[in-house]
Amino acid sequence: MSIPKAELHLHIEGTLEPELAFALAARNGIELPYATTGELRRAYSFSDLQSFLDLYYALMAVLRTEQDFADLADAYLARAAEQGVRHAEIFFDPQAHTVRGIGIGTVIEGLARALDSSEERHGISTRLIMCFLRDESAESAMEIFEAARPFFGRISAVGLDSAEVGNPPSKFREVYAAAAEAGLHRVAHAGEEGPPAYIWEALDLLGVERVDHGIRCMEDPALVERLVRDQVPLTVCPLSNVRLRCVDTLAEHPLPAMLDAGLLVTVNSDDPAYFGGYAGDNFDAVRDALPLDADALRTLARNSFRAAFLDDAVREAYLAEVEAYDFG
Ligand code: ADE
Ligand code: ZN
Repeated sequence: MSIPKAELHLHIEGTLEPELAFALAARNGIELPYATTGELRRAYSFSDLQSFLDLYYALMAVLRTEQDFADLADAYLARAAEQGVRHAEIFFDPQAHTVRGIGIGTVIEGLARALDSSEERHGISTRLIMCFLRDESAESAMEIFEAARPFFGRISAVGLDSAEVGNPPSKFREVYAAAAEAGLHRVAHAGEEGPPAYIWEALDLLGVERVDHGIRCMEDPALVERLVRDQVPLTVCPLSNVRLRCVDTLAEHPLPAMLDAGLLVTVNSDDPAYFGGYAGDNFDAVRDALPLDADALRTLARNSFRAAFLDDAVREAYLAEVEAYDFG
């Protein structure tokens, strides 16, 4: 079994494996523009973030009922448990579903159905993070935020995802202020394809507690200093970065340099059905491609629990599991 870890950067819609996509399409009477799962898998060749997002949003057509969302989340949790995930903070994109006429209650109640039995069935504690689509308007973000208000008891944080370049964090200042007011945690994707300036904005204008991706911070020494000083966690997704061509090869990934700089880095899977692996697969891939020894891998696992939105007693119990893990 892979080292115990928390997964903090995981889009539940990005866990839709081709087999489940076809099963849900059949259940809902939807025709997919692919004849077989093999043909669909062959479409998973991306040139950048947008080329992935186009397929990611198109395939969501198969998600229609509470049970669909429950089945999606349960399948992810089963896979994650096999790879040592003990705690998962799960993103979802409500606007991508409400635009198709699916109620936000259907999405959240469906996901909650799987999450409620996750500790018992899979040994994984969970949180839900509701993301705003940054290529939609600030007004649309505020509307979905208000629509989600009855469900705030189930939601731990807000996040910001989708097409980054041209959609800076500053666009979402108002809704992040409202989220802070409502007592929700705040995270945002920044510095995946976008420039270091977007990471500064996420910190200073949105008040984020974690930065998702953040790899482009390495271009700005003053920003690295700030992130190190405040120990702001970065949820890095190595296989995603290679598949979306943010990094040319895994061997050239900045992860070791980020650790050496003293950044609080974690390793995550982003959209595992599309990018070639779940959390443990990402750990294995960086171990094989990069100069990371057992101490570095243990640091990454420890960081994942340090960066999680957990109560301290629970955090300490998970950290003890990390320290006790034997790489063999
Ligand atoms: N939505 C799903 N995966 C994403 C990613 N890697 N970046 C931005 N938005 C996303
Ligand atoms: Zn992401």
